Amino acid sequence: YFVSSNTEPLKGKTVLITAGPTREKIDPVRFISNHSSGKMGYALAEEAKKQGAHVILVSGPVQLPKPSGIDVVSVESAEDMYQAVLNVFDEADIVIKTAAVADYRPRVSYDHKVKKQTGNVMIELERTKDILLELGKRKTKQILVGFAAETNNLAEYAQAKLKKKNADMIVANNVKAEGAGFGTDTNIVTLFKRDGTVSELPIMSKTAVAQKIIEEITVLLKDLNK
Ligand code: CTP
Ligand code: CA
Repeated sequence: YFVSSNTEPLKGKTVLITAGPTREKIDPVRFISNHSSGKMGYALAEEAKKQGAHVILVSGPVQLPKPSGIDVVSVESAEDMYQAVLNVFDEADIVIKTAAVADYRPRVSYDHKVKKQTGNVMIELERTKDILLELGKRKTKQILVGFAAETNNLAEYAQAKLKKKNADMIVANNVKAEGAGFGTDTNIVTLFKRDGTVSELPIMSKTAVAQKIIEEITVLLKDLNK
């Protein structure tokens, strides 16, 4: 019989994935958010499941069908996402932070609808928690993969994020490039690894990018167990 140890290489592993945007409430009818569709994170969740992993998907609000065989935790704000992620971080062997987390939220959010006024209005914004940065500080056994959405100086910014956030890999994409970034079914990414390796991938479907990322993670996992 042919028995391959490569079937389901993530069997027995728990993969925590965050996906989609977050929403930061101004009042009951308004929020601050971004263009993240969640497609990249959902593709990663499907691929991790395919490779045998137990998948926990912490998802911001997206217009995608709920995947089956995956534990989905729905969240709204960056603070919700932070709490949901920390709740399960200890169980995770691999964490992939695809989510486009809002960097700022309104300092004050109202429980009633804010009425318009004659003049201009100012909304003061305060920083949210950087979830990946926090995970980088707390990590024990986990393989930590972050994303970097950039419009310029991609390599420089991605390398800085890899270091600063203590990640094992950063998947960087130029969100301004044709066929990459928000909402599209394709992506153009470059992988920056802790060991200094850089791999620039051609334009691929988000499913194919997910396959490649999971493959790379499987290699990192093997190196860890050597
Ligand atoms: N991230 C996070 N929590 C935040 C902001 C970002 O966990 N509050 C994570 C994202 O999920 C992503 C990585 O950090 O995996 C990089 O996000 P990105 O927005 O590209 O970088 P920032 O560090 O927020 O820096 P900037 O937006 O200024 O480029
Ligand atoms: Ca950001």
